[in-house]
Amino acid sequence: LFSTIPHIMEWTPPRGTRDFYPDDMRIRQWLFEKFRQTSQVFGFEEYDAPIFESLELFIRKGGEEIVDQIYHFKDKSDRDLALRPEMTPSLVRMIVQKGNAIPKPIKWFAIPQCFRYERMSKGRRREHFQWNLDIIGEPSIRADAEVIGAVIHLLTSLGLSKNDFSVHINNRKLLKDLLSHEGIREDKITDVFLVIDKLDKIPPETFGELLKEKGLHAEDIKTIFEVLKLRTFADIKKRIPQSQAVHELEELFKYLTHYGYNDYCTFSISVVRGLLYYTGTVFEVFDREKKFRAICGGGRYDNLFHDLGKIDLPAIGVGFGDVVITEVLNDKNLLPKLTKHIDYFMIPFSENEMEIAYTITAALRKQNNSVELPVSSMKMKKALALALELNARYAIIVAPEELKRNKVIIKNLSEHSEKEIDLRLLLS
Ligand code: HAM
Repeated sequence: LFSTIPHIMEWTPPRGTRDFYPDDMRIRQWLFEKFRQTSQVFGFEEYDAPIFESLELFIRKGGEEIVDQIYHFKDKSDRDLALRPEMTPSLVRMIVQKGNAIPKPIKWFAIPQCFRYERMSKGRRREHFQWNLDIIGEPSIRADAEVIGAVIHLLTSLGLSKNDFSVHINNRKLLKDLLSHEGIREDKITDVFLVIDKLDKIPPETFGELLKEKGLHAEDIKTIFEVLKLRTFADIKKRIPQSQAVHELEELFKYLTHYGYNDYCTFSISVVRGLLYYTGTVFEVFDREKKFRAICGGGRYDNLFHDLGKIDLPAIGVGFGDVVITEVLNDKNLLPKLTKHIDYFMIPFSENEMEIAYTITAALRKQNNSVELPVSSMKMKKALALALELNARYAIIVAPEELKRNKVIIKNLSEHSEKEIDLRLLLS
């Protein structure tokens, strides 16, 4: 039946993917629960979409890495399909599909698994889960502050402080205005953005080389380096006093300060993001020491609904992966030690006590207690050892002597105490 498998099969999962053993799964669920709690306290509702979509939903012109990384395939009817590399196009599709039926602003979140054929490096895998949080239909910059506020709320709820991470915020319009003002040709700006996005990951010489490859002259490259050195809004205003983008950034920082989040946020002119659909605010979170890749990233994408679905809807959102944050929390010893635990471990003395043991188990489970009823017979000593191993809070011993008096023994395993308890109490 499996004649070829023993030769070709490795027991590790495909490169870049992960198995989740129960120990890993506990951490994953813990993190997802944090994503959900934050989304809920900020008033977002959960949605989901298929893990694969039509390939064309994800194909865009412009040279983004994400498009080259798509896992795609044909189904048996020759349709071109793709595993989603990100959630945003599916979100747009779902909203366009309903036309104007959904009241705005739409505040939705999801935790999709996404697939990208990435070059494997620290923090980057070929599959990851990505918390997505988006506000659609709201042009006000206060929506941007909500999304960034939710990210900071989440990070602090995970135990990280302002000494551990910072949100690096920029605005694409600002960079575009600056570059245009300094004489960089409009048709080169997209290419320049994609190269600036790599700035952190490459040496400065390579940065210059890449810009040269895109057809920029030495003079332009020097100008770009100069622009990227700007640090304050005051300096930027000297160059582009009329820029709407500076105003937007100042507004954004104002609302984040109202939330008490000023110390968590910095203006970083070199943050542009690698996805070309962003139009305004862009941001990424990094650990303070920059030991790890970006923890998350997001921004405003006011044209994507028009480009994909020919409707005008402003939008802002974030994608927050599970990989880097787990590495950061692990590095800072902030991952919880989660163990399996159950409420009750049943120990019927012999086959004669089995019926009543099943009855008690069913009654306890009905009240949402977790109950382990061992399916193989074992001696008392072994049963108690197993109960401890499984982190049971109580063991219930169903033995003939006590049963005669309508009682069972209940052992509190952490306090090493035991008492008899009336059967009727357990079964009521
Ligand atoms: P992105 O920057 O491509 O944006 O991904 C967002 C986050 O997902 C990254 O910062 C990282 O946490 C995680 N991530 C991405 N690729 C990988 C990977 N190969 N391995 C592990 N983690 C990864 C987007 O996808 C946008 N659609 C986010 C968005 C939502 N913008 C607006 N709304």
